[in-house]
Amino acid sequence: MASITNTVNEGKWGKETEKQLGVEDLESWRNEMYVNTIPWEYDRFRELLERYSKIPPNEVEAEIFKIRNEAWGLVKYPCIGHFTYVKLPEFGGDDIEMQKAIERLRAPDSQDAFLELGGFIFQTIRRLVFEGVDSTRLYGTDLHAEFIELGYKQFRDRETLKATLVAGDLLLPNEEYAGSELACTFDGKISVAHASNFFHLFSWESQLVICERIIHFFRRDLSAKHPAVLFGSHMGSCKPGKTEFFGTFLHDEMTFQLLWDTVGERTATRWKVEMQIVGAATSKPNAYGKDARMVRYVVSQVAS
Ligand SMILES: C[S@@+](CC[C@H](N)C(=O)[O-])C[C@H]1O[C@@H](n2cnc3c(N)ncnc32)[C@H](O)[C@@H]1O
Repeated sequence: MASITNTVNEGKWGKETEKQLGVEDLESWRNEMYVNTIPWEYDRFRELLERYSKIPPNEVEAEIFKIRNEAWGLVKYPCIGHFTYVKLPEFGGDDIEMQKAIERLRAPDSQDAFLELGGFIFQTIRRLVFEGVDSTRLYGTDLHAEFIELGYKQFRDRETLKATLVAGDLLLPNEEYAGSELACTFDGKISVAHASNFFHLFSWESQLVICERIIHFFRRDLSAKHPAVLFGSHMGSCKPGKTEFFGTFLHDEMTFQLLWDTVGERTATRWKVEMQIVGAATSKPNAYGKDARMVRYVVSQVAS
């Protein structure tokens, strides 16, 4: 296993803490987290590049490698080194929440807006457009403006994509956050949000801050028939708690419900969490230990 530093980040994950990825022994981190062939099926990503971006089939793989290598040069996340983002697992047909989201967004009288959190190159947004969703209904955010740019480069849609993509730090201190582009763009606008491979980056305290901000992103006038929903997949654990990996907090259904109950109390809202394990191990090199499990989760607002 590559060495993982276990020093700072008790409270906050961001550009400074990202720099610690692999810092103790970069060569061993690279050996563990970076591959030279795409280790999974990536038919849905390939289909996007061929049919949405009009990239000739024989150039697709080289284009994927080009963008991956640029992204790895910026930040050494395992999901970049290992091409996890090309899998698009939520579009395989068995993710009911993504099916429901697509139906809501495609309905002729839809008022819904979808937000992708920590979206990297926003492959999910492009797939939703490919599935027939009007791109003006789509929003996204990530810490790195460079990832948003790489998305335009990968998918060749700078002139056509009408989604609103905003770079920003979801953990800015309150005073800065209040006037930030994130709060100004998303507050009160979103009905469906999606976050994958995201919550497991953060400590309990940081997750509380992020959840509270997500709650503010949601529209206030949603009905029980079309409630505010956040869903996705990430690393959970059959022994929930703070991990050695930067002190991040991995959940089971009970602890994730507790997190949302806590933030619900703070915001006078109610949330129901559902979570299921989808994989015994991780789909990428596992920095989180033997108890980690890939889980799918849904958090739905409960009408008061
Ligand atoms: C592990 S990647 C997951 C990317 C994508 N969701 C996926 O599943 O392929 C986590 C993403 O979260 C973003 N991120 C990390 N810290 C953040 C923060 N404080 N605010 C906003 N985004 C952040 C990173 O830039 C990165 O793109």
